[in-house]
Amino acid sequence: MKDLNGKVCVITGAGGGLGRELAMACARRRMKLVLADVEAGNLETTRTLIQQELPGTYIVTQQVDVSKFEQVATLAQLAVQRCGGVHLLFNNAGVGVTAPIWENTVSDWHWVTNVNLYGVAWGVKAFTPIMLDQGEGHIVNIASAAGWMYSAGSGIYNATKAAVVALSESLANDLKMANSAVGVSVLSPAFFPTGIIETERNRPAEFADAAADSEMKRQYEECVRRAVEAGKISAREIAEITLKGVEENRFYLFPHAWVPGVIALRSKQAQEGMTAFNPQS
Ligand SMILES: NC(=O)c1ccc[n+]([C@@H]2O[C@H](COP(=O)([O-])OP(=O)(O)OC[C@H]3O[C@@H](n4cnc5c(N)ncnc54)[C@H](O)[C@@H]3O)[C@@H](O)[C@H]2O)c1
Repeated sequence: MKDLNGKVCVITGAGGGLGRELAMACARRRMKLVLADVEAGNLETTRTLIQQELPGTYIVTQQVDVSKFEQVATLAQLAVQRCGGVHLLFNNAGVGVTAPIWENTVSDWHWVTNVNLYGVAWGVKAFTPIMLDQGEGHIVNIASAAGWMYSAGSGIYNATKAAVVALSESLANDLKMANSAVGVSVLSPAFFPTGIIETERNRPAEFADAAADSEMKRQYEECVRRAVEAGKISAREIAEITLKGVEENRFYLFPHAWVPGVIALRSKQAQEGMTAFNPQS
């Protein structure tokens, strides 16, 4: 989608991190913004920051839990009512847990899968028909390098992000078969600094049963914290790379240039077939 000026974007997880920077990048292109997050207070902070930098930006905010289809469907209706359509959707909201996978609780599985996989599925289900009716639109699903390479300690997160890659490729192929002009991108960044290291703040009470703090879990948490904090590319830069990818209608977006090389190594090891590929080795 080349010219974003005046068009409408919807961003989930817009209360901080990458979602907030995607909102800024869209506002700089003079888009109308429909911003959603489970954390209402942070969403209002995003609104204030955008209004300070780019006064007059059209912004609608809505508290939404992406794991609930009804709330995502209501968001889609709100966007159409208030803005007349939706041209660009970022399925960005995401959470994570660390632990050896056998220690993860049933609640860990439900919470992370509900947000990272079903959250994206509900966005696709609620918004694709609107874009098909319009005859134009673009959906960006936020996966991760973890959707392609599976480090120890993040099994549930890895599985959900691999599923987001699969869902995105399937969506792109279905749209092609339907001769639709609606575009798709899947963004797969490696670690970058955001509030994701405090992701437990978003865990709902119904899934409070987190894996117990074993020594391995503590070590994994520390590893992820250090990797996120040490990320060399900022959320702002990743947002800009993503918007350029949309403007150029690119499907695979890898802000960290080394990631496709590791995927190639993984394919090579798969041909040899003896051991599971380990990106840490
Ligand atoms: N930061 C990284 O290192 C990294 C790397 C690769 C991919 N990602 C992905 O980038 C995306 C954005 O994450 P981030 O790093 O900006 O983290 P973040 O925690 O700063 O932002 C995530 C946002 O999602 C919101 N959210 C959480 N659960 C929600 C729900 N159920 N419904 C609606 N909103 C919800 C949070 O309130 C928060 O505002 C995620 O999909 C994440 O998996 C992050």
